Amino acid sequence: MSDKAKLIFEGKEHLFDVVRGSESEKALDVSSLRSDLDLITIDPGFKNTGSCKSAITFLDGEKGILRYRGYSIEDLAKNADFLQVAFLLIYGELPTNEEYVKFLNDINENAIVDEDLRKILENFPKSAHPMGILSSLTSALIAFNPEKKMSLKNIEDDREYMYNSIVKLLAKIPILVAWVHRRRKGLPLNYGDYNAGYVENITKMMFQVPNQDYVENKTVINAMNKLLILHADHEQNCSTSTVRIVGSSEASLFASVSAGISALWGRLHGGANQAVLEMLEAIKNDGGDTKKYMSKAKDKSDPFRLMGFGHRVYKNFDPRAKIIKVAAHEVLKDLGIDDPILDIAKSLEQEALNDPYFTQRKLYPNVDFYSGIIYKALKIPKEMFTVMFALGRVPGWIAHWREMRMNNDPIGRPRQVYVGSTHRTFKT
Ligand code: CMC
Repeated sequence: MSDKAKLIFEGKEHLFDVVRGSESEKALDVSSLRSDLDLITIDPGFKNTGSCKSAITFLDGEKGILRYRGYSIEDLAKNADFLQVAFLLIYGELPTNEEYVKFLNDINENAIVDEDLRKILENFPKSAHPMGILSSLTSALIAFNPEKKMSLKNIEDDREYMYNSIVKLLAKIPILVAWVHRRRKGLPLNYGDYNAGYVENITKMMFQVPNQDYVENKTVINAMNKLLILHADHEQNCSTSTVRIVGSSEASLFASVSAGISALWGRLHGGANQAVLEMLEAIKNDGGDTKKYMSKAKDKSDPFRLMGFGHRVYKNFDPRAKIIKVAAHEVLKDLGIDDPILDIAKSLEQEALNDPYFTQRKLYPNVDFYSGIIYKALKIPKEMFTVMFALGRVPGWIAHWREMRMNNDPIGRPRQVYVGSTHRTFKT
């Protein structure tokens, strides 16, 4: 099999190297195209552009496969614990018992944030969106955790510095998430119970109410664990690419992740989970006529889109959505909740699966379609849904930031095709 591809342009021939991935994906290496032929490639939205080589997550959109470091998402969601998955994504292997205990202890030792950060949080207007607050507070963490310039020449020093930054971030983000949630609910801000597991602690920090005994609810913990695992990584999506590109300028881990949180916020990306619930509630309040909304989604003159449907990469089904749909049923049943919006969601899905508009465009429910129904059952307000997505995605962002730095990837800097005015003279 040839590992070269030929392009003929203006009579000149150019041979490209073909890069092959471990799952037989093929890519043309176009990096020499400009120096050899004075050409660049153009691909708005990077729909067909690989930005890096990565060994973290494998995704086959045609077959609906998602694997973290080789382990299938189905296997991990069923059997693993979120902190194990975080370690796996970041370091490439599942932790041994000893590594797990050390990782959790190191996180717990850093599970404190400066009291001045609490003051910053308290000064946000009550109406501020939790994603804006989370992004700002993550960035503000830098002020209390000063930056060390990494050289990468002294890799051993940097490994330790990186490890410390990673455990600090994994320790502090849950506190910020819990605080943002508690402030919305008018509850006093607290710290966690560091004898508890990582997810148990997050749940307790969020839901513990003063002067009431806190009783751990296994259904809630299992649902949180599963949702966090399902959101933990998704290769080069908008927010992860943002983290990598910000980090490529040698910005710190905290600064890069803060940028990732902002990128996740939009409703075409992580913000879709809030938008889905708003859509389902709007349909319910409008009498539950799903067909009316299906027509709106197909009408090109109507800006309405079926939120939680479609995906840039999945063209068969999103394996995460399958798992979440089953989990939504289980959680509602276990908590004794009968929520009519689950029926509305299932009707929309069923209609879409039988509608050529959706089938021809290969639009299927994505991870955000059913997740909001679970968050709602857990009594998490809808403005917090994308924050929960961010909490789950932190290990993925860290893994990509680390991989990019360890590989010494160059600064991200795309080119463009200029289509503006040609040279003109400023008239005085
Ligand atoms: N409802 C109705 N039509 C849609 C939808 C939808 N949700 N999604 C795509 N289409 C149509 C779109 O109008 C276009 O039609 P045409 O070919 O006639 O112009 C065609 O399908 C292709 O869509 P696209 O916008 O070119 O595809 P994309 O890859 O650029 O966008 C997407 C992917 C996820 C942004 C898009 O499907 C969408 O807006 N979905 C709704 C928002 C959503 O659920 N986002 C969460 C994504 S999964 C979580 C995450 O990782 O971020």
